[in-house]
Amino acid sequence: MTSLPTAFLALPLPIVQLSLSAVLKCGQSFRWTAYSLNIDSENACLPTHEYRFCLRDRVVCLRQTPTSILYRTVLPNPQPNVDQRKLHEAETLLWLKDYFQLDVNLASLYEEWGSRDKVFSEIKDRFSGIRILRQDPWENLISFICSSNNNISRITKMVQNLSKEYSSPLLSLSVPDGSGVEEIYHPFPPPSALAHPDVSARLRSLGFGYRAEFIHRTAKMLVETHGNTVHPREQDESSEQWLRTLRDMNTEDARAELLKFVGVGRKVADCVLLMSLGKTDVVPVDTHVYQIAIKYYGMKASPKGKMNMTPKLYEELSTKFVQVWGGYAGWAHSVLFTSDLKSFSLHGLPPPMSPLSTPTKNRKKRSREMTDLVPTFSTPPSTSSLSDSSTATEFACSKSPAERVKKRARK
Ligand SMILES: *[C@@H]1O[C@H](CO)[C@@H](O)[C@H](O)[C@H]1NC(C)=O
Ligand SMILES: *[C@@H]1O[C@H](CO)[C@@H](O)[C@H](O)[C@H]1NC(C)=O
Repeated sequence: MTSLPTAFLALPLPIVQLSLSAVLKCGQSFRWTAYSLNIDSENACLPTHEYRFCLRDRVVCLRQTPTSILYRTVLPNPQPNVDQRKLHEAETLLWLKDYFQLDVNLASLYEEWGSRDKVFSEIKDRFSGIRILRQDPWENLISFICSSNNNISRITKMVQNLSKEYSSPLLSLSVPDGSGVEEIYHPFPPPSALAHPDVSARLRSLGFGYRAEFIHRTAKMLVETHGNTVHPREQDESSEQWLRTLRDMNTEDARAELLKFVGVGRKVADCVLLMSLGKTDVVPVDTHVYQIAIKYYGMKASPKGKMNMTPKLYEELSTKFVQVWGGYAGWAHSVLFTSDLKSFSLHGLPPPMSPLSTPTKNRKKRSREMTDLVPTFSTPPSTSSLSDSSTATEFACSKSPAERVKKRARK
């Protein structure tokens, strides 16, 4: 099942438009895996990490340079036919443009938010390239049911466990750090897999707590109401497709549909509205956002310092942020939210001077964990010929994987 690495293609894109190291770990999607490439070069043009995501039919691998996103597609059966491979890369490119919403000019939104809001203008350079993903609503919904009373590293474990347990492995691929370790990739399971009667008990035993029941009942409800037919030539079930039709509804109606599910309150519904249904002005509010509002936006703290989120307070906070940032308030909120995450406390700062300041204890873990990667580029994007071309081109890196292996062997 192992596929040989094929060449990466380059999509020219400055880092101010998209920063993978920020966007893929700031609590939007929990299924990306980040691998350190163990590059010991000072050349800031070389990618330091590879990010992988398993779709129903393929694994998408990404790397980032200051001027481009490098991407390649891995399929379960290697494609000897060049035209077929081109077709699959073209499909992946379309998926990337949709998933990262690359038709939205993030740099000009940052300008706008910066001019409307002093607080934003102070963080905008350090936290550049943070945009909202356009996720699959089914995966987004289940992930955010997992998110209640939870933190990013634990949600990540849950979502990965859920995929391992309820969907068959798609393919295995060696990790890109040269260690030779093979990783098995599972797509996100379809609703029918989670609607099965024993799911709730099994998830409880996997440490999901009360969320186990919510996940099972939501899946069951979806399948009972909207079916689990998979049409030929399509990869997902009818209920997943129905969820996507909520994109065509107005925010109120789509929210009302989401609130019918078990384990879905206003906050979870708003996350789904923002992160997979295209409602750009929706600001999901939690105690964390409330604290940001108190700290920077003059919201009054409640008398006893209690963070009791009433519907009225929720509405008030949500409306306030739309007044500050405008029609893409949900997007701006995610930049502020990320800047306040503990795991981002070093993000965008120059790397520490001495290698001794990084405890070796953490070094080993780093390649396998989403949660504690160091920031990548803080230097401004340099110009290169890649950024001039608007079509995908073969990326020529000065160090091929084979050369890197040779180099390591010499040490
Ligand atoms: C996340 O939550 C788990 C369980 O509540 C806890 O053990 C862990 O320390 C938390 N991690 C972080 C980074 O806060
Ligand atoms: C995920 O699975 C691993 C290994 O089976 C287990 O140790 C861990 O507790 C699980 N975590 C969660 C949050 O489900």
